[in-house]
Amino acid sequence: MARPTEQWGTRIGVIMAVAGSAVGLGNFLRFPATAAANGGGVFMIPYFCALLLLGIPICWAEWTMGKAGGRLGLHSCSAILGHLGGHRAWRYAGALGLLMPTVVYLYYVVIESWCLGYAWSYLCGTIDLGSDPAEYAKRSAEVFSGFAGDNFDGVMFNGTVHTSVYFWLIVVAVNFWLIYRGISKGIEKFCNLAMPIMAVCAIFVLIRVLTLPAVHEAGETRSVLDGLGFMWNPKPVHEGQSALQALTDPKVWLAAAGQVFFTLSVGFGVIVTYASYIRPKEDIVLTSTTAISTNEFFEVCLGGLITLPAAFIFLGVVGASKGTFGLAFNTLPIVFQNMPGGRLFGFLWFFMLFLAAITSSVSLLQPVIAFLEEALNVTRRTSVTILAVVTLLGNLFVIWFSKNLAALSTLDFWSAEVGILVFGTLEVIVLAWVLGARRGYQVALDGAAMRPPAWMYKYVMRFVTPALLLIVLGMWCYFYMGGHLRSIGQGGVPALAVGLIGLLLAFYLFMAHLADRRWGPNRVAIEVCADVAAEGKK
Ligand code: TRP
Repeated sequence: MARPTEQWGTRIGVIMAVAGSAVGLGNFLRFPATAAANGGGVFMIPYFCALLLLGIPICWAEWTMGKAGGRLGLHSCSAILGHLGGHRAWRYAGALGLLMPTVVYLYYVVIESWCLGYAWSYLCGTIDLGSDPAEYAKRSAEVFSGFAGDNFDGVMFNGTVHTSVYFWLIVVAVNFWLIYRGISKGIEKFCNLAMPIMAVCAIFVLIRVLTLPAVHEAGETRSVLDGLGFMWNPKPVHEGQSALQALTDPKVWLAAAGQVFFTLSVGFGVIVTYASYIRPKEDIVLTSTTAISTNEFFEVCLGGLITLPAAFIFLGVVGASKGTFGLAFNTLPIVFQNMPGGRLFGFLWFFMLFLAAITSSVSLLQPVIAFLEEALNVTRRTSVTILAVVTLLGNLFVIWFSKNLAALSTLDFWSAEVGILVFGTLEVIVLAWVLGARRGYQVALDGAAMRPPAWMYKYVMRFVTPALLLIVLGMWCYFYMGGHLRSIGQGGVPALAVGLIGLLLAFYLFMAHLADRRWGPNRVAIEVCADVAAEGKK
């Protein structure tokens, strides 16, 4: 742990990097699909409740822990939780903060490579759905299968290596190169560049969508306003109900909580690591809140106004009612085929998605890099190599078992839907109960450019958030766990995917064990935080 620690260069750079982690495929694909399936405009009520009572408190808790850890020269979840928790057992619990980003990375980077592949194909004009509109849907599905191999397993390496595999290799190389360059020279520099480009691309596509002429088809006229209405008008979740009844459906609330976690990247341990690179006296409250607001702008204003309205204008209700991947990779190419200037806008759109994804995927790698360096005292080169080998093998698993995207969805379910609830709960408990909400609040106040409301720490983080998390976790298990356990019981890909998660967990626990031996007894972090509090009063 004697390694010289890295730091973010500028405050705007931190905001870009953290916002870059948050803004991703979740904003542009998962959000519109989820919102439209869960009541349209009505969905925003549970969404904002979840943002206020789960997203923001856990996000601030992660920032606070990261900042406290950074002062001690620590950057990995395992070391930081271990110190703040005041017990060595937390070092092992912190291994979850390595497992989850790794598991998400394993499939996220594969989707990222599809985005780059599509962008490239639009640039070269090779995505062409033919001249017969009746064939568009079929052609589009074929193009997607070519990229993702969702029609059968092992297709990517069946005889010849499919082109999308090359895109995967390129994407992986760029990710690891950025990580190798480090926090300020790699991630921060890249995000400073990528975020504005993303915003410009997205705004171009948005303007195009909002100025589309109405489509007349089979006696029906669909204008931009109809498209926006399709996305945003309150609508019933189940037939025969009123729109407001969506609010009585627990599944709608669960979907909202899940979306908030995913889009803010909270509950993964990623923010703890990013926050630990902040300068000791630097503000975290305004910084994190700015990053959250940026994410919401991308999610609601850009994600919420582009994809579904465009799909509805050209394809009507059926075309616009697809899930996340169907929407992105099957429906939107049809939209671009119909749209004037579709090739250019298709390129801008998928290139923007690629940038959104890569600024997220580097943040999924950094926690493990920080950990390997702290745990094993190895160089950047070694840590990058170890992680590259592990994740390349994991990626191959996802790419091979591509039929119905089974491996991808199983990994996604256990990490990004269930795991975060468990780890998020552990995190708020460490901050609000073990370290103590008052000490946490002092750490947050130190250097704060904006005072966080004390009640957020005193009441919401201590009582409301943990209680809600447990309720949400309970409901998850009640509604969805049975089906997933049954599919694991049947063997096959879901069982293998869960086995892979188990293997990774064992790997990280073993590493945490090595680290624990190397680090020795805990330094008492509580004293450090008390120092911060005392300095703050001077
Ligand atoms: N927030 C990212 C998105 O909206 C996805 C994501 C989920 C993520 N968990 C993460 C990114 C953890 C980085 C770290 O697409």
